[in-house]
Amino acid sequence: MKIARFSKIGFILAAAGSAVGLGNIWKFPYITGEYGGGAFVLVYLITVALIGFSIMIAEMFIGYKGRRDTVTSFEELAPKNKSLWKYAGFQSLAGLLIMTFYSVVIGWILNYIVTSLIHLPSSVKEAEATFTSMLHSDFFTQFFYHSIAFVVITYIVSKGIKSGIEKLNDYLMPALIIILSGMFLYALSLDSFSKAFSFMFAPDWSKLNSEAFVTAVGHAFFTLSLGMGAIMTYAASMEKDTNIVHSAVWVVFLDTAIALVAGLMLFTFLYQYGSGPDKGPGLVFISLPAAFYEMGTLGNFFAVIFFIALAFAGLTSAVSLVEPMVQYMIDRFGFSRLKASISMGSFFYLVGILVILSGLDGWKESLSWGGKNLFDWIDFLTAAVMLPLGGLVMSIFVGYVVPKSEVEATLKPYLKGYFPIWYFSLRYIAPVALFVVILNLLGVM
Ligand code: PHE
Repeated sequence: MKIARFSKIGFILAAAGSAVGLGNIWKFPYITGEYGGGAFVLVYLITVALIGFSIMIAEMFIGYKGRRDTVTSFEELAPKNKSLWKYAGFQSLAGLLIMTFYSVVIGWILNYIVTSLIHLPSSVKEAEATFTSMLHSDFFTQFFYHSIAFVVITYIVSKGIKSGIEKLNDYLMPALIIILSGMFLYALSLDSFSKAFSFMFAPDWSKLNSEAFVTAVGHAFFTLSLGMGAIMTYAASMEKDTNIVHSAVWVVFLDTAIALVAGLMLFTFLYQYGSGPDKGPGLVFISLPAAFYEMGTLGNFFAVIFFIALAFAGLTSAVSLVEPMVQYMIDRFGFSRLKASISMGSFFYLVGILVILSGLDGWKESLSWGGKNLFDWIDFLTAAVMLPLGGLVMSIFVGYVVPKSEVEATLKPYLKGYFPIWYFSLRYIAPVALFVVILNLLGVM
């Protein structure tokens, strides 16, 4: 059987498509707003540069060498300790968990594409009422669009790496970049741009408590798609002579650039036309539509293309969240791709319905524990706990378990003189930093 592989540029687009997602455009701006801007952004950027980048290369390495689903790849690289290391491969489960709320949020976005065509809220108050009434009392709309998201995502994954995932990214990623660049240029021409700039880049250290710190590090993993097997599974389908380091540089660069561009653009619009930046998860659904309203007819156009771009970003990430477990079911249980896609899809679809219910009046109470509902818990457990843990495991695995000679043979040709720096950061900086984060987490919990 001929195995479908990504083309070189296809791999970069798909991995960047995975990384650039709701995390960049929806989550990054609102958590930056919640945790006060500059200092938070700086911790996030330092984590990306110092730890994220090293682990991106390590994760690509495991997939590239293992060439199979995540569980098998770990086994292949640790022949002496198979029965222990295979458990590291179960980090892929985090992807399905993330999907339970990711698909619901993609559903909200699809709904906003349709409603923004017709009507924009004339004030933040109205926008807030519309959004909260969807969240608290409109089961049907959320269920309907979550179902559409489920069908689209499952269909694409069932088409496989080449004709499903690569094709999707070939079209949607350039479209996303064009839309965001156009909107960014417009933001650049507005007076409030400089205010947005200083909010994002002037650090106010007093705002940085330990929760903000844990969130910033967790977010760096989330946004780079690290620690849950997405990048690993894609890397297993790289062509043999793909330059891993070059690909990693592109993915990290595109992901960071798009998060910063999205943040600057949104805060500019919010300062210029609407309210401030500290609006929580409703930021792009409440403050932004109200700001678009102030722009007049141009606003409707901007709103629709903005939500389309957001949906594109979400879809290209969603397929990468499901693919690792699909690949696992195919490799280990002999499932057909269709059967694997439908069964894994059904999992996030059904649990996603509970996630919707956890926001609804009448259900909320029974689906909340300790001040967080099911949605918040899954988000917290995956982004703040499971992904950094997955990163810690990978840094130990590639840094200490896989023989150095093997790592060197594959990566030195690409890293050249930087190899010792990368290896050092993987063995010492990443594990220590991640360990501190996990300790910190115990305090936050
Ligand atoms: N990186 C994606 C985002 O920023 C989310 C994601 C996380 C995708 C983990 C795949 C794996 O939205």
